[in-house]
Amino acid sequence: MSGFFCLQWHITNRCDQRCRHCYIFNSKNPIPSKEWTLEDAKLLINDYLGFCGKYDKTPHISLTGGDPILHPDFWKIIGLLHEKEIQFSILGNPFHLSPGAIIRLKEAGCKSYQVSLDGLRGTHDSMRMEGSFDSTIKAIELLNEYGLSPAVMTTASRVNWEEIPELTKIIVNHKAKQCSFARYCPTHGDTESNLTPDEYHIFLNRMWDVYHNLEGRGTTFYLKDHLWKIILKEKSLLLTEDDGIVYDGCHCGIAHLTLLEDGTFYACRRFDSPIGNFPTPIEDIFFGEKEDWYRQIHKIDGCSKCELLNYCRGCRAVAFGTSGDYFAKDPQCWLK
Ligand SMILES: C[S@@+](CC[C@H](N)C(=O)[O-])C[C@H]1O[C@@H](n2cnc3c(N)ncnc32)[C@H](O)[C@@H]1O
Ligand code: SF4
Ligand code: SF4
Repeated sequence: MSGFFCLQWHITNRCDQRCRHCYIFNSKNPIPSKEWTLEDAKLLINDYLGFCGKYDKTPHISLTGGDPILHPDFWKIIGLLHEKEIQFSILGNPFHLSPGAIIRLKEAGCKSYQVSLDGLRGTHDSMRMEGSFDSTIKAIELLNEYGLSPAVMTTASRVNWEEIPELTKIIVNHKAKQCSFARYCPTHGDTESNLTPDEYHIFLNRMWDVYHNLEGRGTTFYLKDHLWKIILKEKSLLLTEDDGIVYDGCHCGIAHLTLLEDGTFYACRRFDSPIGNFPTPIEDIFFGEKEDWYRQIHKIDGCSKCELLNYCRGCRAVAFGTSGDYFAKDPQCWLK
């Protein structure tokens, strides 16, 4: 197999929380009221497997929402993935995770369950919901107790960046198997929580030290933000090829698709990037003109002349959310 082709599948937007930063509830777009039916889920899964088979890709689904477990056919959809032996992980909430649910997920082949922590207790609860921090910590403990890998994601912005080093220690002390952060992508012109490029450079270096100090404690730190590539380059830890092949970086147009609750395909969920609708075959969506538009990486301001073009490209959703232009310079990139 020549690598993964990942599908981030939002099966519902039902959710117990209304987080201040959430792209579902705080974007300019109306919230779609539809969600996936079991019949359509079957068709989609068959199409996805056919696509991966044809292009020799390993399928991986990130099943998410909202909180995917709140979908009325959640367990049936999980059953379909199990039956077809598709690798999957869940990006969900902590509130409906019982020992029984965790055991069922494990038996169905779920690889990991990601929850979010967006700051220390006060900050997290003010962004999400009173009691959410403690529920999330309990969920991490329960996932560990019943043997399903807990992963923790943090959405970083000016609101919480100073708390993330301390939060990372808490995440490690609770034995999360994976820990990472991604930047907040402004959804309605709210750019005041963006960090400056210099602040972000300082922050990534600080997090590098935090990760090194916490090494060997059972948590893998995933360098999710592509601007980490600049840090790796600065530390002479990244060797780059100049052969025109896209090796890594922003997934828009590359080995990844997002599918919304209402059947709209997006290049990336973190900004308004519709590229077609189910039941159009994935092959036509992925190789279609609309998705091609997101692959014009030589038009990206700054990146087009950068030696890291084929490794980074920053986050196009942060660029779009900040300026309204997909091809704008990443607002936190500190390279001149
Ligand atoms: C939409 S949620 C779905 C899973 C689950 N409900 C949760 O909150 O983790 C997936 C992730 O997207 C993040 N997210 C939501 N809105 C965002 C935005 N505007 N920019 C960046 N990340 C965002 C959430 O914080 C969460 O980590
Ligand atoms: S819990 Fe997740 S899906 Fe629900 S509002 Fe918060 S970020 Fe959005
Ligand atoms: S725009 Fe690219 S880097 Fe940003 S979240 Fe989407 S796929 Fe990831």
